[in-house]
Amino acid sequence: MTVHIEAKKEDISKTVLMPGDPKRAEKIANEYLENVKLVNAVRGMNAYTGTYKGKKITIFPSGMGIPSMGIYSYELFKYYDVEEIIRIGTVGAYLEDENLYDLILVNNSISKSNYYLDLSGETTHMVNSTEELNSKILKEAINEDKNVRFGNIYSTETFYDEGKNLKEFRDDFNCLGTEMESYALFCNAKHLNKKAACLLTVSDNLVTKEEIDSKKREQSLDEMIKLALEASL
Ligand code: HPA
Repeated sequence: MTVHIEAKKEDISKTVLMPGDPKRAEKIANEYLENVKLVNAVRGMNAYTGTYKGKKITIFPSGMGIPSMGIYSYELFKYYDVEEIIRIGTVGAYLEDENLYDLILVNNSISKSNYYLDLSGETTHMVNSTEELNSKILKEAINEDKNVRFGNIYSTETFYDEGKNLKEFRDDFNCLGTEMESYALFCNAKHLNKKAACLLTVSDNLVTKEEIDSKKREQSLDEMIKLALEASL
């Protein structure tokens, strides 16, 4: 038990899948897992543990943004002995040829956040995902004949970003898009010597202005979910 998680230690698996939205966590648990048990309900961050093809797996929502992901992934790694976390989320695409529902696997997460400085006393604004987890995900994508782009992401603290971030991070740092949680997850994994990956579905394109509405966002991320579950076996 921690300040934010009431689960018993034995009810959390070594591999955790983290969507942002608690409703998505519930949907994944009900649709894909067997023997499902609610293991956390503090602050409505309902988390579920069950089995997928016989393997114990926990689906724990991160909430939105670096601080929320920072809290939950830190407590899971540090106090629940979780070894690997795969974030499954959505991304606003920076390139015109990225279509809605395309999949992106994050290489480096780049951010202006001071999360790592506050966490460790050191400064870094670019953190890498874990190669071992990435190669499992990419291998599974090949098995399932799914296209996945592998590249950098700008992890922002400002959803309503009216500045020049798109141009700067796309052109100078080769970012494929923006989301709001991977940086905290990768910082915690780096600091605590754990493994982390981030698989994303394009929910909006910041160049073409196309977007998936919120109801579909909740419902239509099946390809990504299946890929993450298979990679976690
Ligand atoms: N900005 C930030 N985070 C996001 C976006 C976006 O456009 N789309 C999905 N997550």
